[in-house]
Amino acid sequence: MRLLDERKSELKLRGDGSSLDALLSAIVGQAHADYVGAVCETADSNSTTRVDLRERTSNTADLKSSRVMIVDDEPINVKVAGKYVRMLGYSNFLTVTDSTKVIEALHEENPDALLLDLMMPEVSGMDILETMRADANLKRIPVIILTASSDRGTRLRALELGAMDFLAKPLDPEELAPRIRNALLMRSYENHLRDHAETLEETVRHRTYALCASRLELLHCLARAAEHRDDDTGKHVVRVGRYAALIAREAGFPGPYVEVLELAAQLHDVGKIGISDTVLLKPGRLTDGERALMEVHTQVGADVLNAHVDMLDNSLIHHSEPWSVLPRFSQSPLTELAASIALTHHEKWDGSGYPNGLSGTDIPVEGRMTAIADVFDALRSTRPYKEAFSFDHSFDILFEGRGKHFDPELLDYFLASRREIEALDIELRED
Ligand SMILES: [Fe+2]
Ligand SMILES: [Fe+2]
Repeated sequence: MRLLDERKSELKLRGDGSSLDALLSAIVGQAHADYVGAVCETADSNSTTRVDLRERTSNTADLKSSRVMIVDDEPINVKVAGKYVRMLGYSNFLTVTDSTKVIEALHEENPDALLLDLMMPEVSGMDILETMRADANLKRIPVIILTASSDRGTRLRALELGAMDFLAKPLDPEELAPRIRNALLMRSYENHLRDHAETLEETVRHRTYALCASRLELLHCLARAAEHRDDDTGKHVVRVGRYAALIAREAGFPGPYVEVLELAAQLHDVGKIGISDTVLLKPGRLTDGERALMEVHTQVGADVLNAHVDMLDNSLIHHSEPWSVLPRFSQSPLTELAASIALTHHEKWDGSGYPNGLSGTDIPVEGRMTAIADVFDALRSTRPYKEAFSFDHSFDILFEGRGKHFDPELLDYFLASRREIEALDIELRED
């Protein structure tokens, strides 16, 4: 199938992300958007993090409410360790003597630090460390090993499995105090950084969406401005976008492409900004000279949509301080597609169109889809030189252009969707 081949070669937008991600990616480029978000946030986040960590370092009283778990199979050892821990001011602790229940207890209680005996029957402290290391919910709990052994191999193995410190048995409360404090401080920092990262992510997400929304608004304003003189409702561009998207969807183009095409097609006549009112609004037929002037709107549109890359390179990046940090980026897929549509939406399948007299598949597929959408909506609309045609008459005229004006395969997709098209026309027409 011809269209299948074209899809492979012409589609620049791929991916399985959400529609908003796809749109954003198309409009500003995902890397660019991420970069802007990151640049905006970096200054705030660094200072906030430093301040908070300093505060937390000095305010160790907060640590006293932390939860400490003590695990030892000997009840007397647990009792002694518990007594010392309480003496140090940590009243929120719990003890476990059955090593088979430790993992379950860790999940339930989520302690801020774990004092762990190594030599236990059935499930050893090393087994527990191994299980914790493999468990995303447990591996960040700081573990202090309680051991009577000074065996180097055992210590190294425990360190490999994520233990952060050791305490020799019998416990020395003076050694216990700084070790518990350090473990709890580490846990506190980690919790804080995790919370901060989540907040940061949320902020970036909000700003990214706001950026995307403002781009969409500007894009629609530009499209409406171009059509304002002969369509002050702005609905023509919206309908053309919807019809072009409908054809693309029926032809099997992927969702992200269809969504960007809908936006890009709205800009098909942006070049009319450069056409004089006497030509644009003239009732009746245009002279050859006037028609030649009118046809220039295709090239003007392409120039307008292609121009911003130079502007960014030459002006914003070099002369505007906030933008000077941004990396150079190429034209976004949206404006690239829109420029192509602006240039080619009046080309005809048989080669009799303008501005370049392209024919068949030499005309970019986005231009061929938009041509059908644009002509249909013009037929259905009142213009200075004509009344609106009925649905039947409009579809008949399109069919007459099958294989002459329009790509026959794409036109068939459009004609086969008549019920949906009529519903869209009724929904989006105010004139
Ligand atoms: Fe046009
Ligand atoms: Fe149009």
